[in-house]
Amino acid sequence: MTVTEPRPGMAQPVMLAPARAASAIEPELRPLSPNEGLRIDDLNAFYGSFRALRDVTLQVRPRSVTAFIGPSGCGKSTLLRSLNRMHERVPGARVQGKVELDGVDVYGPAINPVRVRRVIGMVFQKPNPFPAMSIYDNVVAGLRLSGTRDRRVLDEAVERGLTRAALWSEVKDKLRQPGTSLSGGQQQRLCIARTIAVEPEVILMDEPCSALDPRATLRIEELITELRTAFTIVIVTHNMQQAARVSDETAFFTMDDDRAGYLVEMAPTTTLFTNPTQPLTEDYVSGRFG
Ligand SMILES: Nc1ncnc2c1ncn2[C@@H]1O[C@H](COP(=O)(O)OP(=O)(O)OP(=O)(O)O)[C@@H](O)[C@H]1O
Ligand SMILES: [Mg+2]
Repeated sequence: MTVTEPRPGMAQPVMLAPARAASAIEPELRPLSPNEGLRIDDLNAFYGSFRALRDVTLQVRPRSVTAFIGPSGCGKSTLLRSLNRMHERVPGARVQGKVELDGVDVYGPAINPVRVRRVIGMVFQKPNPFPAMSIYDNVVAGLRLSGTRDRRVLDEAVERGLTRAALWSEVKDKLRQPGTSLSGGQQQRLCIARTIAVEPEVILMDEPCSALDPRATLRIEELITELRTAFTIVIVTHNMQQAARVSDETAFFTMDDDRAGYLVEMAPTTTLFTNPTQPLTEDYVSGRFG
C-alpha cells in the first residue's frame, strides 16, 4: 500500500488526515512506532568548504507548528532543505549529522530521497505553480508522478486537496484554467494543495507569505492553523508577529563571524518571545539586532 493513493469508492474525510503509517518513509520497518516528529542531531551543512550550519540539534514536535527565525544568512533555508534532502541537490553541497523522522534516518542508505521529499513536502517563498499546468493538473502532479491514473481518484484528490488548502470554493468552476492565472495568495494555496495532495507527514514552509499582501498572508496563517492538527509544520519567517501568531515553538538561529549558522535557543513560542534565556535572543526579538 502506498500512502498517496486513496482507494477508489472509499469516502475520504475532507479535513482529517487519513491514518498513516508511523513512518511514511519506511512504513514496513516501523509500522507501530508512535509519531515522533523530526529529530535533528548535530547537523552541519556545507556548500563546498563553506559551513553554513554548525552543530544543530533540535526536535520538531509532531502535529504542531515550529517557527525558525533569525537574521538573513544564518542558514534557515539551508536547514529546511537539509531536512528533506533538497540541500544535496546543490552541486558540492552536503550534510553531516542526523535527521530522523519517526525514528527513521532520513539519510539512511536504503532511503530514497525522492520519497523523503514527498513525505517531507516543501512550500517556497514565491508561489511556484507549474506554469504550463491547469489548477487541476497542478494539484495532482505528484500523484500522477507516482503512477496514479484513475480519474475518480484524481478528481477526489483535487477536491480534497483544494478544500484542505481553503481554495476549493474559489476555483471549483475553473479547474482547467492555468494555475498561474490565480492571484498570488491563491497560487500559494494551490502550492499548499499540491504539497498536501501526496499526503506528506511534514510540511516545510520557507517564508510562505513574504510575497503576499496582508490579507492573503492572514489567509495562509489561518490555513496553517487549520493544517497543524493533521501535519507537522515548520515555517521560516522574518515576521515575528507571524511566528508568534502561528507557531507553538520557535527556534532562534544566528551566526558567528565565520557565517556558520547555529541554534541559539528553542522554546515554546510565548516563552521565547517574552522570556528568552539567551541575551542574543532577547536582542533579536526586541528588535535590537537583525
Ligand atoms: N547555493 C548556495 N551556494 C553557496 N552558498 C550558499 C548557497 N545557498 C546559501 N548559501 C550560503 O549559506 C548561508 C545560509 O544561507 P540561507 O539561504 O540558508 O540563509 P537564510 O537564513 O535562509 O537567509 P534569508 O533569511 O536571507 O533567507 C549564507 O551564507 C548563504 O550565502
Ligand atoms: Mg532563506
